[in-house]
Parts: sequence; structure tokens; C-alpha cells
Amino acid sequence: MEHIREITKIAEWGLRKDAVRVAAYLNQLIDKLEAEGDKKDVLRLKELLDASGSTVQTSGIGSRPRLPVDGESRLALADEEIPTEAGFPVVLDGGTSRRVEEFISFVKNSDELEAHGVGGSPSLITYGPPGTGKTQLARYIAGRLNMPLVVARADTLISSYLGSTSKNLRTLFDHVSARRCILFLDELDAFAKLRDDQQELGELKRVVVSLLQNLDNMNPQTVLLAATNHEHLLDPAIWRRFTFKIPLSPPGPNERDQMMRLFFGDYATNLDLSALSVLAETVTGSDIKTLAQDAIRDAVIRKQKTIDQERLIWRLIAIRIKRDVSPGDLTPEDLRAIQALNPVFFNGKRLAEMLNTSTATISRKLKTRSE
Ligand SMILES: Nc1ncnc2c1ncn2[C@@H]1O[C@H](COP(=O)(O)OP(=O)(O)OP(=O)(O)O)[C@@H](O)[C@H]1O
Ligand SMILES: [Mg+2]
Repeated sequence: MEHIREITKIAEWGLRKDAVRVAAYLNQLIDKLEAEGDKKDVLRLKELLDASGSTVQTSGIGSRPRLPVDGESRLALADEEIPTEAGFPVVLDGGTSRRVEEFISFVKNSDELEAHGVGGSPSLITYGPPGTGKTQLARYIAGRLNMPLVVARADTLISSYLGSTSKNLRTLFDHVSARRCILFLDELDAFAKLRDDQQELGELKRVVVSLLQNLDNMNPQTVLLAATNHEHLLDPAIWRRFTFKIPLSPPGPNERDQMMRLFFGDYATNLDLSALSVLAETVTGSDIKTLAQDAIRDAVIRKQKTIDQERLIWRLIAIRIKRDVSPGDLTPEDLRAIQALNPVFFNGKRLAEMLNTSTATISRKLKTRSE
């Protein structure tokens, strides 16, 4: 029988008196019937839905559902984005990219997988240092799956009113269960931060339990993404709920090269990308993007068609030694720090050229100890 999955789910949640989920599966059935051109049944089911007074709206047709708000502050509990694949490119190493592709095909085939009894809510958590592309990857995935991304707002979700956080979570999960979308819990560790405050420990336990309950009851059609900088702070039970766990780290040499091409675009032509990529060792994707955008902005303002490689190297130095350095006024410490970044590249001859001086001056300065 066609659409048996939706019908079974409607029956299941109907018997459990869960109107929100009944409406969610009814919406999915309507979407499928509409795609098949079955106008008569679509109309009948829509009337039924309207008559029930359900606030759940049909995904994919009509206006978008209104985002849920916090009961006290009336602030939105989430933001909604509709990312496109091209708008959020990601550069990943081979292994990471394969895992992401696996996840995407898991979601795309979720109906089939469920029919064979090996389905379940697709969930993925990314973790790693700031600026490594966790948020970008969530948007890229949403673009690839062509689904709206509902980004939870930790600041509003975590209410100062006791017990309200759990209520907010419930409201948000109900909202995403009722439509075809991706729920993105960015900076998931925000929930774990309550742990720092002894008085908040009781509340934290309640929030964790509530998060777990919501995760367990999630509509299998809802795709869940999460990101964290501090995976150790997460409750192990929450961590276990994610089927895909993907670490992100600063890019390796190949990825740095690809990022440079991506971020510099047409301005890459006159640059020695391999030298820059070597010098960008240890920096994050976010740093490379900032480097490129600053340099392009600079070129546009100076009405130049190309980027000056020398200036770029100085910017890269500043990022890596984490302080601004000016070639006109370098201390021996600055010079030693620069050389330590890459002694082969920043040899005496290169430093002398960069500072427009002699190698003898450079070596004297390198040996100078400050009092
Ligand atoms: N691997 C990557 N591929 C493509 N772009 C990247 C990558 N890493 C970082 N970026 C760029 O850097 C910017 C910042 O990345 P993003 O916000 O995704 O980092 P994050 O890991 O979420 O950081 P945080 O932990 O601070 O939230 C993005 O706009 C993106 O363009
Ligand atoms: Mg982020």
C-alpha cells in the first residue's frame, strides 16, 4: 500500500493523542500527494487540517510557519535560514568530506532506510576549535539537502526563569517536528555552561534530561545538527545521541591551498599561493578568509587590480604571532618570533629583503637581547 509509512505514523500518534505529530505526518502525506498531482485528496486533507485548528502549516506550500518564542520575553527561540549550496562552500580533508557525504546520503535515503528497519533520526555533531567551519558546514549541509535551517538561539532558549528552559526546548522541538527542516543546535556547550554555577546545577540536570527526552522523541524526519567548541563539557548521554560525530580542525596544506583559491578568487592569479599556504600553517579557515577579505578590500580602496604579496605576508605574520607588527619598527623579539614561524622561509636573506636592510644588520638584531 502506498504511503503506508505516513498512515502508520498518523495512526500511531493519533492513538497517543499527539496532535502536533499527527499534523506533521499529515503534512508530509499532503506534500507527497501534491507532488503526485492528487488534487482532490490534497484539498480534503487540507480542509481536515484547517478544521482541526492546528497551527501547523504545510511545509513547502503556502507561508512559512512562524518561529516559536520564549513565553516571558517573547523573543524568538530560533532563527530560520534558507542556505544555498553555492552560498556556503566548505573545504574539508578527504576523510571528513567522505563522512559528510555519508551523512547527506543517509538523510536522502532515510525513507528507504526506515522501510528496512535501519532508519532513525539523522543526527550529526561537529566539534573543534573556533573558526574551523562548524557553522559553515551546517549551512552547506542545509543547502545540499535543500532544507530550511532552524538555528536555535541559546541566549533565548536558556531562560533565567526556573523551568522555562525545558519548556522552551519542548516548544522548539515541537515546532521542528511539525515541519520538514533541519534543527541546528549551534554552540551546544552553552547548555553545559550552567554547570559553572553551583546554584544552577539542579536546573542544568533538568535541562539535560529535557534535552535528552526531546532528542529521543524527535520526529525521524527531522534532521539534527549540532556544533560545539568544547565537546568535553557536554553531557556524555547527549554526546551519545549523535550518530555522526565529526571533528573539524585547522586546514592541512592541501586544504589551505584550496581555501586560498576560494577566498582570493580572481585576485589569486598573481599570488604565490604555495608560499602563502606554507606560511599559513596552523591558522584556521576563518583566519584565511579574513586575510583574503582584508587584502581584497585594501586593493579595491587603493584602486589596484592585484594584491601585494609582501603586504599579505605581513598580515599573515600578524595573525600568526597574534600581535600587530610594523616593518618600520621591529623589536628583536618580533624578529625572532617571525623567524621561529618558519626558519627556512624567513632566513636572513629574506628578512633583509623584507626590511630593506643588510643580512648583517638582521643577524645582529636577532642576537640582541632586550634588557
Ligand atoms: N573548512 C572551511 N571551509 C570553508 N570555509 C571555512 C572553513 N573554515 C572556516 N571557514 C570560513 O570561516 C568563517 C568562520 O567559520 P565558522 O563560523 O563556520 O567557524 P566555527 O567553527 O563555527 O567557529 P566558532 O566555533 O567560533 O563558532 C566562515 O565564514 C567560513 O567562510
Ligand atoms: Mg560557529
